[in-house]
Amino acid sequence: MPHHEIVIIGGGPGGYVAALRAAQFGLDAACVEKEPVLGGTCLRVGCIPSKALLESSERFHEARSSLADHGVRCERVEFDLAAMLGRKDQIVGDLARGIDALFKQRKIARYRGHGRLDGPGRVVVESADGALELTAKRIILATGSRPRMLAGIDCDGKLIGTSTEALAYDAVPNHLVVIGAGAIGLELGSVWRRLGAKVTVLEFLDHILPEMDAELAAEAMKLLTRQGLEFRLGTRVTAASIAGDRAVVQCEGRPPTECDRVLVAIGRAPNTERLGLESLGLATDERGRIAVDDHFATAAPGVFAIGDVIRGPMLAHKAEQEARACVEGLATGYCHVNYDAIPNVVYTQPEIASVGRNEEQLRRDGVAYRKGVAFFRANGRARVLGHVDGRVKVLADTQTDRILGVHIIGPRAGDLIAEAAVAIEFGASGEDLARASHAHPTLAEVIKDAALAVN
Ligand code: NAI
Repeated sequence: MPHHEIVIIGGGPGGYVAALRAAQFGLDAACVEKEPVLGGTCLRVGCIPSKALLESSERFHEARSSLADHGVRCERVEFDLAAMLGRKDQIVGDLARGIDALFKQRKIARYRGHGRLDGPGRVVVESADGALELTAKRIILATGSRPRMLAGIDCDGKLIGTSTEALAYDAVPNHLVVIGAGAIGLELGSVWRRLGAKVTVLEFLDHILPEMDAELAAEAMKLLTRQGLEFRLGTRVTAASIAGDRAVVQCEGRPPTECDRVLVAIGRAPNTERLGLESLGLATDERGRIAVDDHFATAAPGVFAIGDVIRGPMLAHKAEQEARACVEGLATGYCHVNYDAIPNVVYTQPEIASVGRNEEQLRRDGVAYRKGVAFFRANGRARVLGHVDGRVKVLADTQTDRILGVHIIGPRAGDLIAEAAVAIEFGASGEDLARASHAHPTLAEVIKDAALAVN
């Protein structure tokens, strides 16, 4: 029976990063993954393929609509969907092979199959070849999440599906209905809109992007509406079914909507079923999550959990951060994740990014804050890029000037937010950010301007 110091169940950004970090500490680690490739949802059917399609569809849109502004004329701009999808698959494959290479280099054992706990220190790996039992000193659960579904939605994976299907439609839908105006709905809705689909987004709340700063979310909705996305807010979807070659979406108190594809993007649910939790007396909360302490320890000795199966935002980089911290805790006895410094990015055009608390959260928490805002419209680099929409908002403590949150909607917001995350991690003040030199002309100057506007 194979034995390892650490057995990790799940090979996504939580699991594979934990394995790689364990190897750096000289620990003998093994990773159990049911899919043929490592990388998890993020690499196979999430962050990476969606960004590939966002980029390609953006290039197409730009060639068609704004290259002429640069004096670049293209006759008859067309796209080749099969080539776009092929490029996406190629990127995913290359990155997956990169993880394989790192596993080999760091001598991490890999088991293919469905892993589950089987009493203290034991993991069973089930595959078509049968069941294999492993023993481990420590076990890390990193099994991630899957798209959430509603009981009334007749998901056939063809006309009605999730992000997985929407990353690989074989033709541009005439009319795509997106259920849920979160990151997934807006990103994939944008892709298919740019490629020519009519896109209708149905959202239960009276605003989009519930996790984002309300002012930025409102601006995002205005800009996305201008791009042709149609939003129906305050619309609760209760069911969706297939009628011939069409899908019909039912909403509370409204007439049904007919379309030819439905993307269900109403959140994600942790993968904690069939994990053998009961074999160690572990239970999940009402949302299916596993409770852990600050060192990611569950109530069962020697068993840890990270990523989408525990509390906090379901983000790849949050899982990675926890993976490293968890393993560092096992190796050194100490670990820490600063959840205030974990950024959140939505890769629409323009991108929307935030780190720290937003205005609504600060008001709710009764924290007195000052706000500095600057606009991309006044920035030279933004003008040159031809992407002038958006703003940066810096929120700092009234008393101490410590930065509490930074919120950006604008070109490359997802890259720009890194500076703000570092500032928050280092406990910087608004003045620190304002005094730091920013190269000219760069988009980052807008962050400096917003910090200057705080005081
Ligand atoms: P989400 O939780 O962000 O948004 C789902 C939306 O669906 C909410 O606005 C909710 O009000 C709405 N909704 C729920 N039930 C509904 C109903 N019956 N009818 C109409 N609207 C309904 O979920 P999403 O976009 O599926 O993303 C899932 C997770 O993946 C999130 O945690 C997200 O942060 C993460 N993610 C992050 C990305 C990024 O960082 N760029 C990209 C993709 C996903």
